[in-house]
Amino acid sequence: MKIVVTGGAGFIGGNFVHHMVNKYPDYEIINLDLLTYAGNLETLKPVEDKPNYKFIKGDIVDRPFIFDLFEKEKPDIIVNFAAETHVDRAVVDPESFVRTNVTGTTTLLDACKEYGIKRYHQVSTDEVYGDLPLDRPDLFFTEETPLHTSSPYSAAKAGADLFVLAYHRTFKLPVTISRCSNNYGPYQFPEKLIPLMLSRALANESLPVYGNGENVRDWLHVADHCEAIDLILHKGRDGEIYNVGGHNERTNLEVVKTILKALDRPESLIKYVTDRPGHDRRYAIDPAKLETELGWKPKYNFDTGIQQTIRWYLDNEDWWKRILSGEYSSYFESMYGERLQ
Ligand SMILES: NC(=O)c1ccc[n+]([C@@H]2O[C@H](COP(=O)([O-])OP(=O)(O)OC[C@H]3O[C@@H](n4cnc5c(N)ncnc54)[C@H](O)[C@@H]3O)[C@@H](O)[C@H]2O)c1
Repeated sequence: MKIVVTGGAGFIGGNFVHHMVNKYPDYEIINLDLLTYAGNLETLKPVEDKPNYKFIKGDIVDRPFIFDLFEKEKPDIIVNFAAETHVDRAVVDPESFVRTNVTGTTTLLDACKEYGIKRYHQVSTDEVYGDLPLDRPDLFFTEETPLHTSSPYSAAKAGADLFVLAYHRTFKLPVTISRCSNNYGPYQFPEKLIPLMLSRALANESLPVYGNGENVRDWLHVADHCEAIDLILHKGRDGEIYNVGGHNERTNLEVVKTILKALDRPESLIKYVTDRPGHDRRYAIDPAKLETELGWKPKYNFDTGIQQTIRWYLDNEDWWKRILSGEYSSYFESMYGERLQ
C-alpha cells in the first residue's frame, strides 16, 4: 500500500506520518509538503531514516508537479492535510486560503480522477458547521448539520469538502471526509492557543486572550485524531463524512488557567485583548457515527492529555524555541503587538 500524505510536515500531518510509519512497516508513506511557515521537517526526525518513509517537497496547487508525482508514484491512497490553517491569518489574507485549501484540493482530485485511486481522504474541520450558541449545551454538530461557515478559513475548507463530495457523485471517486474538532498535542505550531500560551507563560510573558475568554472549543488529542483517520481509511465507507471529537469542551479561559496552574504561573499574566472579528462561540462534535460504525474511542480525555502535552513541550524546548526565534516572532508582533500595549 502506497500512501501520499500531504501536509505531513505540519502538526496533525506530522503526527499522522509518525503513526502510519510506525504502525504499518509494510506500507510506503510519502510525505508531500511545501514547507510553508507551518511546515517543519524537524517534526519528522524520529521517522526520517525508516525504510518505509520518504519526503517530497512540493505544492499541491502545482498541477504539472502533482500529475508527474502520480505518474511516477502511482499512490493507492491520498490523505490531504495540506492547508492554510490559521484563522487569524485568513482574516488578513483570504486569497491564500482559497489557493491552497480549494485549488489544492481540486488539483489532487483531478490527479486521482486521471490516474485512479483506492481512496482519497480529505481532512476537514468542524469549523465548516459554523458555531453553536453558548446557552444551548444540548446542541452538537452531526454529519447532517448544514454548512454555515464564519471565517475565510472555514469557508475555504467547506468549499473543498463540497468539491470532494461532487467528485464522488459525478466521477465516482472513492472519497471520505473527516471533520474533527480542535486538536492539541506534540508538534503544534506555537501560533495556536495551547502552545502559544505555554511558551509565553514559560517566559513569564502576558497571555493574550481574545474577548472575555468564554468561547468554547471541543479539544481532541492529536493521537486520537490520527487513529480515527487510520480507521476511516481502512473501514470507512466511500462517499461518507465522519465527525471526530471526544466531548471535551472547555472555554479558552479554562484552558489558559489549566496551563498556568500546571506551570505554577500566576493568573495575572492573562491579558484580555480585542476579540477576533467573527469569532465563533462554541464548537461541539457528536462523534456517534464514528463510534458506532467504526468502533472508534478516544484514548485521552482533556485532563490527562493536556498534562502529557505540557510535559512534551517542557521536554522538547529545542523544537519550539527554534520556531519562535525565526520568522514567527515578526508575525506575533503584527498580530498581537498593538493589542498587548
Ligand atoms: N489543528 C486543528 O485543530 C485542526 C482541527 C481539525 C482539522 N484540521 C485540519 O487538519 C489539517 C492539518 O492541520 P494542522 O493544524 O496540522 O496544520 P498546519 O498548519 O500545522 O500544517 C499544514 C501543513 O501543510 C503544508 N502546506 C501548506 N500549503 C501547502 C501546499 N500548497 N502544498 C503542500 N503542502 C502545503 C504546510 O507546509 C504544513 O506543513 C488541515 O487541513 C486543517 O484544516 C486541523
